[in-house]
Amino acid sequence: MSVIVFLLFVFLTTTTTGTVTASTLLPSCKAKCGDVDIPYPFGIGDGCYAKEYGDFRINCWGNSAAFLSDSVYEIVDISVTGELRIKGSTGFDCYDRSGERTYYFPSVNLSNLPFTFSHTRNKFVVIGCDTNAYIWDQYDTRYSGGCMSYCESLDSFKGMPNGSSCSGLGCCDVSIPRGIKSYITGITTYYSYKYSMDFNHCGFIFLAQQGQYTFSVSDLNSTRLELQTRPIVLDWSIGGQTCEEAKKNRTVPYACRSDNSECIESNNAVGYLCNCSKGYQGNPYLPRGCQGMIKTPHCFD
Ligand SMILES: *[C@@H]1O[C@H](CO)[C@@H](O)[C@H](O)[C@H]1NC(C)=O
Ligand SMILES: *[C@@H]1O[C@H](CO)[C@@H](O)[C@H](O)[C@H]1NC(C)=O
Ligand SMILES: *[C@@H]1O[C@H](CO)[C@@H](O)[C@H](O)[C@H]1NC(C)=O
Ligand SMILES: *[C@@H]1O[C@H](CO)[C@@H](O)[C@H](O)[C@H]1NC(C)=O
Ligand SMILES: *[C@@H]1O[C@H](CO)[C@@H](O)[C@H](O)[C@H]1NC(C)=O
Repeated sequence: MSVIVFLLFVFLTTTTTGTVTASTLLPSCKAKCGDVDIPYPFGIGDGCYAKEYGDFRINCWGNSAAFLSDSVYEIVDISVTGELRIKGSTGFDCYDRSGERTYYFPSVNLSNLPFTFSHTRNKFVVIGCDTNAYIWDQYDTRYSGGCMSYCESLDSFKGMPNGSSCSGLGCCDVSIPRGIKSYITGITTYYSYKYSMDFNHCGFIFLAQQGQYTFSVSDLNSTRLELQTRPIVLDWSIGGQTCEEAKKNRTVPYACRSDNSECIESNNAVGYLCNCSKGYQGNPYLPRGCQGMIKTPHCFD
């Protein structure tokens, strides 16, 4: 047992320290925008992104902030394994004692872009004591969802630890279906927060990466929550073809350019992804992008 643990340790240390860094961009293209790494098929400017597979263009605004194509969606980070995170804003619906309402309902529209919202890694979160919130896809009428969150008084939370799950008391959350490319949101209320005015007069909503928010009772009366952004996870993939179709297609070149790479079907959208083969790492979309890792003892076979 201890021998296996030792060998595993050797294996892990050699693979992390002994790796050759693979190139992740085409020559003469910028590898970064601000703090964001830009791996091919993404790229800044013509000739630097893989136009033939979709709109993977990055707009590097002021050399410091990366945006998806011409959109207003700012990128947090891009992973060569098929994920990308953008900044998502927080929606709110607030009432004052005279019944005056202020609100903002976020929406994101990725219609012409090769991205979908990850259905496994995001949650739609709703916070409030008199709050019904909705999220729906204006282009795909099959989908509309949401949840309701209620509380009568702060006494309801007595004895509940902070970080309790969003299960309907002060906070609720729901998953979204697979394949969604756009959403709009809305909030309604039954009593305009009349009965909770002293401790909660707003509903708050956001779609965000799971695990990025933990409910706290003090958030009900927050004056900061609406200013916060949280990452939304998007899945990206190549073209509208399966691996099999892409390998056969002569009009559009096969995207897994590196030797030592393989094709995997996207699990969210129609399309495929490339992955470096076992024992290799780097960028499978570039010729020679997947580099071998330094040989390790064959511990497991
Ligand atoms: C969503 O984006 C598409 C493509 O950019 C555009 O044609 C459409 O008008 C947008 N929809 C809304 C509601 O903005
Ligand atoms: C929950 O968090 C709030 C604000 O951070 C704090 O005032 C309160 O004491 C915490 N409650 C518990 C039960 O930890
Ligand atoms: C809620 O916030 C308001 C304004 O910041 C404050 O006057 C009030 O005491 C707060 N209520 C509670 C229960 O913390
Ligand atoms: C090849 O891909 C293009 C673009 O996706 C598509 O229009 C065409 O029908 C495909 N050809 C074949 C033989 O699958
Ligand atoms: C991609 O390759 C890595 C390394 O071989 C492997 O761990 C990972 O599971 C692969 N990803 C998929 C989606 O097959």
